[in-house]
Amino acid sequence: MSKKKTPLFSHETLEKNIGLMIIASIVVVIFAGLVQIVPLFFQHSTTTPAPGIKPYDSLSLIGRDLYIREGCVGCHSQQIRMLRAEVQRYGPYSVAGESVYDHPFLWGSKRTGPDLTRVGARYSDEWHRIHLRNPRDVVPESNMPGYPWLAERTVDGSDVQDRMKALRFVGVPYTDAEIDAAPQALVGKTEEDAMVAYLQGLGVAMRNAQLEEDAKARETAAGGK
Ligand code: HEC
Repeated sequence: MSKKKTPLFSHETLEKNIGLMIIASIVVVIFAGLVQIVPLFFQHSTTTPAPGIKPYDSLSLIGRDLYIREGCVGCHSQQIRMLRAEVQRYGPYSVAGESVYDHPFLWGSKRTGPDLTRVGARYSDEWHRIHLRNPRDVVPESNMPGYPWLAERTVDGSDVQDRMKALRFVGVPYTDAEIDAAPQALVGKTEEDAMVAYLQGLGVAMRNAQLEEDAKARETAAGGK
């Protein structure tokens, strides 16, 4: 029997050498990961804002940062899945273009409370204020904690321009005029004002875009009669 000739590099070498196997596995996983991740940075659907989506104004931006500080994302998602039950309960499902100005995004995955993607304009400002101070005053069975201190603290606007510039650095198109005017818009505002402004803006642009589309569709249908 002739001796089997082993080529310089064969699958056998790989399978019998654990170190080489580990390195090869890591290379494959890295490559496969990049193939999935890299296109997302260039794809139209993930980099272009959805209809009506604008950068947060300074008050809502501060509200968003408070939402992060207070850990609201630990109980509330901002991501409506493409399931009939979700869409019926919360509204149109989320698309990537809605989050282009969210750094970091707040999709979340834990739903102790309801999804908040489209909570904007669902309640009055007054409802939110009462709810934030003591949720049980409006929803008796609620187990959400109260955040009464938000109403007592005024917003510190000293670093809002830095926050906006940092966001501009990562691609949010704030203009110089918007950044210049930001501290003025925060004078005398409480943290609660900022939180309510943020909550009332959630999903509103998408809902309006949807309503417009529906109206157009109805017009076309009526015209086609
Ligand atoms: C321990 C979990 C928990 C945390 C933390 C929490 N919530 Fe809630 N939230 C709930 C639950 C449960 C409900 C449903 C009952 C209710 O309306 O109070 C709710 C309801 C809401 C609603 C009404 C949603 C709707 O569609 O009716 C809003 C708005 C809200 N929360 C905002 C916030 C904000 C802002 C924060 C952070 C400051 C926060 N929540 C933190 C559990 C939580």
